Order: sequence, then C-alpha cells, then structure tokens
Amino acid sequence: MSYQFNTLDDFKLNNQTIILRVDINSPVDPNTGMILDDNRMKVHKKTLKELSLKGAKTVILAHQSRPGKEDFTTLEQHAQVLSKILNQKVIYVEDIFGYAARKAISTLKKGEILLLENVRFYSEEVLKREVTPQFETHLIHKLAPLADLFVNDAFAAAHRSQPSLIGFTFELPSAAGRVMEKEFKVLSSAVENVKRPCVYILGGVKADDSINIMQNVLENGSADHVLTTGLIANIFLQAAKIEIGKSNKKFIIKKGYEDYFKVAQNLLRKFKDKIVIPSDVAIYKDGERVDVPVDKINDHPIYDLGIESIKEYAQIIRKSSTIFANGPAGVFEYPDFSIGTDDILNAIATSSGFSIIGGGHLGAAAIQMGFDEKIDHISIAGGACINLLAGERLPAIEALERSSQKK
Ligand code: 3PG
Repeated sequence: MSYQFNTLDDFKLNNQTIILRVDINSPVDPNTGMILDDNRMKVHKKTLKELSLKGAKTVILAHQSRPGKEDFTTLEQHAQVLSKILNQKVIYVEDIFGYAARKAISTLKKGEILLLENVRFYSEEVLKREVTPQFETHLIHKLAPLADLFVNDAFAAAHRSQPSLIGFTFELPSAAGRVMEKEFKVLSSAVENVKRPCVYILGGVKADDSINIMQNVLENGSADHVLTTGLIANIFLQAAKIEIGKSNKKFIIKKGYEDYFKVAQNLLRKFKDKIVIPSDVAIYKDGERVDVPVDKINDHPIYDLGIESIKEYAQIIRKSSTIFANGPAGVFEYPDFSIGTDDILNAIATSSGFSIIGGGHLGAAAIQMGFDEKIDHISIAGGACINLLAGERLPAIEALERSSQKK
C-alpha cells in the first residue's frame, strides 16, 4: 500500500493563511460537560507549533462527536484546553464560515491560531455523499478563497469522506500535517510487514466500523483470530443465539446497529473457527460486578468480559506475532468493570508480538497504565487506524494524494 502526498516540508508557511483540519474529538463527561481526555489535542501540538513558529496564520477546523449524541457540543472549551497545551492563545469564534468567521480569518496575524466552531454543526458536513461533490459545499466556497494552503492533520477522521476533510483538496494546494504523516508511515509499514499468527481484538461501541473491518480481514485472510469484546461481543453473542437480554439488545438497537445481528450471523457461519466470542461476561447486578457464564445473563447489563474469557483471550494474544487492537473491552470508566480492558492491555504489553492499538479510549487507558513504552504504537485514531490496518484506503489520504499529483 503506498500513498504519496505533500507534507509541510513542501510549502512555504510564512505569512500564509492555512486551513488546518485536526481531530480533537474528545470524551466529554456527560454530567459536567468537561473534556475528560486532552490527548488528541496534545498530539496536534507538533503541527500547530510548527505552523505558528514558521509564521503561518492558522485556521483550525474540527468536529466534536455527531449530531444527536450527548457530547455533540461547541468547541469553546477545546480552544481553552488547546491554549493551555500550546501556551499560546487560541482565538475561538462561534461560527464556521459566516461573516464572523471570515472576518476573524482576514484579521489574523502571523503566528496566530484561530479555532472555528464544530464543523458538524453545519448539515452539509454530515450528509452521506460521494467524494467528488464534497467541494460543492458552502464551507469550501466560503473559506477556500481566504486561504493559501489546506493542511489535513486529522488522521483519526481520515476514514470519513466529509467536506472539511476532502473538499479543500480540490480548491487549494494541500499537505498532510505531522500527525497524519507519522501515523500513516507507522501503520502502513505495519501492514506491509505482518507476521503470522495475527490477531485483531475489536471492542468499543462503534460496532459499524469494527464489524466492517472484521469482514475485510476475515475475507482477505489476513486475520488468524478476531477476539470480540465490548459491544461487538454482545452483537456476536446474540447472533450466536445466546440470549443477551432485553436491555442489552435495546442498547444495540438504540445505537442503530440492529442490522449487524444478521451480518454477525453470516460471519459466524463462514468464519466460526476464527471469531472468538466470550464464554462469560461481567454483568451489573445489585450495584456490583458479577461474573456469569453467557447463558446466565438474564436481563442484566453487560459491562465487561468475564474472567474466564479474559484468560482465554490473553492466551491467544500471547501466542500471536502481530496484535491489532481497537476499543475497550467494557465500561472501563467504572473500576470494577475495567478488568477486561486492563488485562487485555497487559497481555498485549507483555507479549513478544508486534502490537498496535487504536481508539482514543484504549490508547488513553494504555498510557494511564504506563504501557506506552511496551506497545509498539498507540494510534491517536480508532476507526481510521483499524481501517488502514485492514488494508482499506482512506478517503482523506486519497484526497491528499490526488491533490499532490496536481502540483
Ligand atoms: C473518531 O473519534 O473516531 C473520529 O473523530 C471520527 O469520529 P466519527 O466516528 O464520529 O466520524
């Protein structure tokens, strides 16, 4: 797999107005509205500082969550957190491409950084469309004429074909930022050098991405095992005709993943020997963790893998030469239910195989546990990382590549 795109080294930055797309989509506490983890913002510091120190006028575009979700919110707080991380004021305007945004862009001085509002507040950003019309949008029409260069550093969103990620590449010279550049280099080299056996550990709550990936890696033969955890495991348990109970099913349906029961059933039929589903789970019962075999879930919420499953998964991980993991194994925010996530991370960190983990939450947990040195690469991305590892081409990277060929 080879992509060729421009980087910051290919352009003059001094006194240039640069539209910089980053991914600072962060977990937000549902009760207080406070940002819980600023790791993604810290990671973009390298690109932001370089642009600022080289005299660019930087206009940041970013998203937070998706319409309809609890944490779909303004970027005002992100500007404050970024200002602290950069030790430099990040100007924030509550506008995306209207008069206020355009005025703020045109009055930016060399080295200054401006953050515009959550780009997904604007409906054209989240319309499902093909790549080509992504530049036929108000965002691009209004902002591209004000800029000299588009820099895409949002590796974590590179699997999305959305105007702010793709559209500017049709209208402006474009380059990858430092995060995009590094992640792509590390991950594509990992894909080219996979040693067998190779295990994928797929968890978290974004079941759509994970199940699509699972389908790819099983069908193209690149996975020897796929260990299911988190919501993915629940979908597969139900698909295997193990009754997970009304509340667990309701949660899956509420997330919009009902159709994936059928997909999971087909995958189980075809790849029974490679897909591993839990034999026991931890449920939340009478205010505490209780480990039960999967035929005893009744109607209790499943919050983690069970102890026996954790042991079985750890054994497979330790015997693997390549380990790709994405998403936590359970509701790891509650200490009683973090055992699955912690023990799987521990198995990855102590295994001799080459390991990459993705997904903001799993990455943050690995860093918190002090495993950053023991895991070969902790990607800032979830879906984008695992898509790339599965051999998928990422639309935002393809767009950068197309743009670089124009030069
Ligand atoms: C992520 O957190 O994976 C990226 O920011 C993409 O978010 P999305 O899945 O809502 O498009």
